[in-house]
Formats: sequence, C-alpha cells, structure tokens
Amino acid sequence: MANPVPGKLTMEKLVSLCQRRGFIFPSSDIYGGLSGCWDYGPVGVELKRNIKEAWWRSIVQERDDMVGLDTSILMNSSVWEASGHVSSFSDPLVECKVCHLRWKADDLVENKCPACGGELTEERMFNTMFKTFIGPVEEEASVVYLRPETAQGMFVNFQNALNTSRKRLPFGVAQQGKAFRNEITTGNFIFRSREFEIMEFEYFVKPGTDKEWFDYWVEERFNWYVKLGIKKEHLGLYEHPRENLAHYARNCTDITYLFPHGQAELEGIANRTDFDLKQHGAASGKSVEYFDNETNEHYVPYIVEPSAGVDRAVLAFLCDAYDEEIVNDDLRVLFHFHPDIAPVKVAVLPLSRKENLAALAKDVHADLRPCFATQYDDTQAIGRRYRRQDELGTPFSVTIDFQSLEDKMATIRERDTLNQIRVPIPALRDTLQAKLAGEDLFVLPEGGQIWKQESSG
Ligand code: GAP
Repeated sequence: MANPVPGKLTMEKLVSLCQRRGFIFPSSDIYGGLSGCWDYGPVGVELKRNIKEAWWRSIVQERDDMVGLDTSILMNSSVWEASGHVSSFSDPLVECKVCHLRWKADDLVENKCPACGGELTEERMFNTMFKTFIGPVEEEASVVYLRPETAQGMFVNFQNALNTSRKRLPFGVAQQGKAFRNEITTGNFIFRSREFEIMEFEYFVKPGTDKEWFDYWVEERFNWYVKLGIKKEHLGLYEHPRENLAHYARNCTDITYLFPHGQAELEGIANRTDFDLKQHGAASGKSVEYFDNETNEHYVPYIVEPSAGVDRAVLAFLCDAYDEEIVNDDLRVLFHFHPDIAPVKVAVLPLSRKENLAALAKDVHADLRPCFATQYDDTQAIGRRYRRQDELGTPFSVTIDFQSLEDKMATIRERDTLNQIRVPIPALRDTLQAKLAGEDLFVLPEGGQIWKQESSG
C-alpha cells in the first residue's frame, strides 16, 4: 500500500469529519435535510458554546463598560419598519427561465444561469426577512418577522439598559442569539445558512469620539481571534468602499478569514452613527437622548457595532485547527483547538476494561469531571482511542494502565506534541489545570516523570 500523504483541508473533508465525529449534521437529516439549516451534534454543541462563552467573558464579564441582554426573536413589526428592514433588507434576485433556479444577482460572474447556462430574468428585489403570524389569525395585521439580526433588540432597549445598569457613556450592550435570513442562495457548509447565530454588541459613544472607538474595536476584535488560536496570516481586514455601505453605516470594516472557499467575512464592525436611535426615537415618540452630566449636554449617542457570526466563527476555528500529519507511517488527523474552546478538555482512557483497572479509572474520572469537560472512553484499542480524541481536538488524554494499580500514577498525553508525562494520581487535577492554562508539559509536579518524548510532533 502506498504511504499516506498529509493533504490540505477541503470543505468536503471537513463536512465529512464533522458529521462522522458528531460536530455538525444536516438539519432534518433522515428526511433529506433542509437547505441552509444545520444541527450541532454532541461535540459541535460544546465547541459552539465554548466560543460563545469565550466571547461573552471577554466582551461582557471582563469589562466594566458592557452589559448583556437577551431580547426576544419576535418583535413589534414597527421595529422593522423604523429600522429600514421592511423597505430595504433585500437582495437582487434573478431566476433562470429554463431551469427556474433562483440566484442572487450579486453573486453571478456572468449574466447566465450557473447551473444550466439558461437566460435569466430581470433583477427584482427580494426581502430576506422570514414572515410569520402572531396569534391565531393569519392576516396582514398580525404579521411578525423572525429577526434577521439581534441588534434591534438592543437599540430599542437602550434606555432600559442604561437606566437599570447606571452606566455612563461610553458603554455597550451585548447579546448572542439566533437570526434568520431567507438567503436566496446558501452554501459553503455553515458559512451562509438561513438560520444562524450572531454575537454582537452596540457600543454607545459621544458623537465625535466614534472614529477612535471604531479603530479600537477593530483591533480588539481582530486580536480576540488571534488569542484563541487563529493564525494571524489567515485573518484579514477589508474596509468597505463608501458606495457599498449599508444604509445605516458611515464606515464598515470586515474581519475576514481564509476559508477553504476563499477569504470571506467573519465579522463586520460598523460605525452606525446615530441612525438607529434616531429612527426608533422618531417612530416610537420616545426619547433616545443621553444626558452627559460632565458637559451638561443632551445628545443622541453614536454607535459602533462589532457583529460576528457564531457559525462562521465555528467554521473558522475548525478550519484553522485542522491538521494532518504522518505518525509512525500512519495519517493522523487532528484539531489543534485552543484549550478554552476545545469541546473535550481531558479524556480518561483505561488501558483495559478489567474490573480493577476500570474502578480506578472511574475514580479518576469522577475526580476530574467537576473541573473540566471530560470524556471517559474504554471502547477500543488505546491507539484508536487516541486518534479519536485527536479528531475531537482533546488537548490531553489520561491513561490508566496496570502499573497505575501499583504505583498510583497515570500518564498524561499531550495532543499536539504526543509527549507524555507520568504523574501521581492525586496531582492529576492541578497538573491538568496548569497544562490547560498553558504551562509546558515537562514542568512536573512532585513525583512526576517524563514518560515519552517524541523527537518530532
Ligand atoms: N447587526 C449587524 C449585522 O447583522 P451582518 O454583517 O449582516 O451585520 C453579522 O451580520 C454577521 O453575521 C456577519 O459578519 C456574518 O459573520 C454572520 N452572517 C450574516 N449572514 C449570515 C448567514 N446567512 N449565515 C451565517 N452567518 C451569517
């Protein structure tokens, strides 16, 4: 048999691995799926939650100038009229006169159907908000929309959040949640879907200071991805030309990522000026002004909005962490996830299912699981279990072997280097905590030993 050769990541490989290992499945899979909708599996849901939690910690919990919100998906339709979504949240749509497939005109390179080459209709604008009805009557008066962004829930709560948190400007309101867009075309796995999650915040500032805050947030948000392990060279910044800006924005810079299908938007940072607050102030008749007691002025704050797609972040973290390498003539596939986002932090693997070994391994597992997301696996040969954990991106595996029964020590294997140390079982918890926080594997607890040192990763 030919020697295996490590290859490059493709979207096909990623989709297949994600499905095989329980990261992401097509929605309604047993019925053939639903276009533009995806389900997160047992491992994927942990990855997604970890990414959202890392964002929440850094944006809300670690800052004095930010508060969180969780607003409803369904809102009074007047919100979407005032925001401009009813009139202009639209994409140009064309239809093939032969096969009747519909396309977003902006995405087409040539003026013919990409599927069959057929002639296309004239462009018409298609509003991408999903509509439904509230209450038991299906009539125009009861139309409500599934929110296409979470931002509006934060604009309309500006005074509620300000007054109850007693913050002063500059301050921000953050939220994470589902958004729905009836995209004309979906694709590239979870990159563009019809149901997805957004994590975004509205940062309210004094007019005139918006430019400096905009620059500040572009840098902060770029660094957040780098801190969690995304390679800097895979990220980019794209400044939107003025003529392409959304109706509400004065400036917009995208943080982009080099996905397998090309460099594309991961997060958008917009200077929304006072557009949104003024629109809602005028339409609702309620005050959207802020009283600045330092300068004795009333003004409508400007807003800087960093808005990230959760699913796009999941995709970027998956792509960036993916790796293939040859180990002992075998292909090893792994995710080098940063410990903060890894779905499983520590795997506990008894060498065999023999009773006395299993009892000790279960005790070890019981001791570790209150501290970390763990997985106990006693199913196959140890080599296969290691590979499985590599494919889940588990940073550390703890092996309990027959010698453990004698010397009360366990082996810790590091995912990225394959190096191993052996440590006294009572020291496992603190040792793993330190390693997950970034300590070098070969810094040993008392009684610990270097067990195996790979010459190369
Ligand atoms: N409140 C501003 C706003 O919603 P956006 O650029 O339309 O801005 C924010 O969306 C982020 O949501 C994007 O940067 C992208 O990461 C993600 N996103 C937008 N449409 C998406 C879709 N159809 N599927 C998955 N993610 C999407």
